[in-house]
Amino acid sequence: MIYTLTFNPAIDYVMRIGELNLGETNRSESEEIHFGGKGINVSTILANLGLETVALGFIAGFTGEELNRAVTERGIHTDFIRLSNGNTRINIKLKSEIETEINTQGPAITEKDIAKLYKKLEKIQNGDTLVLAGSVPGTLPQNIYEDIMSKLNGRDIRFVVDATGELLTNVLKYHPFLVKPNRAELEEICGRKLDTDAKLTEAAKELQKQGAVNVLVSLGGDGVLLIDEFGRTHRRQAIPGRVVNTVGSGDSMVAGFLAGVKRNYEYALELGIAAGSATAFASGLASKEEIMALCQK
Ligand SMILES: Nc1ncnc2c1ncn2[C@@H]1O[C@H](COP(=O)(O)OP(=O)(O)OP(=O)(O)O)[C@@H](O)[C@H]1O
Ligand SMILES: [Mg+2]
Repeated sequence: MIYTLTFNPAIDYVMRIGELNLGETNRSESEEIHFGGKGINVSTILANLGLETVALGFIAGFTGEELNRAVTERGIHTDFIRLSNGNTRINIKLKSEIETEINTQGPAITEKDIAKLYKKLEKIQNGDTLVLAGSVPGTLPQNIYEDIMSKLNGRDIRFVVDATGELLTNVLKYHPFLVKPNRAELEEICGRKLDTDAKLTEAAKELQKQGAVNVLVSLGGDGVLLIDEFGRTHRRQAIPGRVVNTVGSGDSMVAGFLAGVKRNYEYALELGIAAGSATAFASGLASKEEIMALCQK
């Protein structure tokens, strides 16, 4: 089973507005509502590809119930912890000539709630995968990914970590099966510009030396670089196409990679790139048909 963890899921309320005038009453031309969060995005692509997945995390209030309903409808098993106060957040995205985002705080998570999470994590068995994706809310201990991995250490669990900075570097000693920084995140970690493949390879190998089993560096429209567990370097170009919205491309790539890795790393890369690019070419997260169409290219 592939579990994903999303601390602070969100409902995105996207409004298209011809012209945005601050301090006045504006009218939107259209609205869309998207349910997500990085872990949920990974689960969504896995479910789209026909894999079984459980979304873990925290929800609250009526928005949380609606998020749970919408996520379940995608064919994802959910096992969210319900917080006693507040509401799952709604983030506002205003699309006019320029884009304005207002991201909201989200409900408070208490120590008791964290204890409930650890209880749920107990269910994860040998051979399962746990995806830890995204940032940790500022109100929580910032070593929580580390704590989770140390508590589950010793079990044969594949950890996937898609996080930035110390959140990522602090877990390398627990040998995560996969880490997936993008170029900017890898540059931030190693503190230098990585503008050539040789420099990227060197930096990715440093993460491997520190403990990561596989290091997948996503490069947006420039494709992807993988240092696999055998130390082999794979470099692939992205699939060309018309970009609509790249949000969630990285999460899609992680899901595609996990779906493909049962076969081998070549196929994992192929499916990862196809899923990442298919999402970049779609308005939301890609469907199975959209992903498989690119995979055949
Ligand atoms: N403009 C693009 N054209 C084609 N493929 C793309 C494009 N942008 C992203 N992709 C595909 O998606 C993969 C992941 O994208 P990217 O490197 O932007 O991830 P990311 O920065 O982690 O994104 P996010 O965190 O927002 O999900 C890329 O490696 C590539 O295969
Ligand atoms: Mg990312």
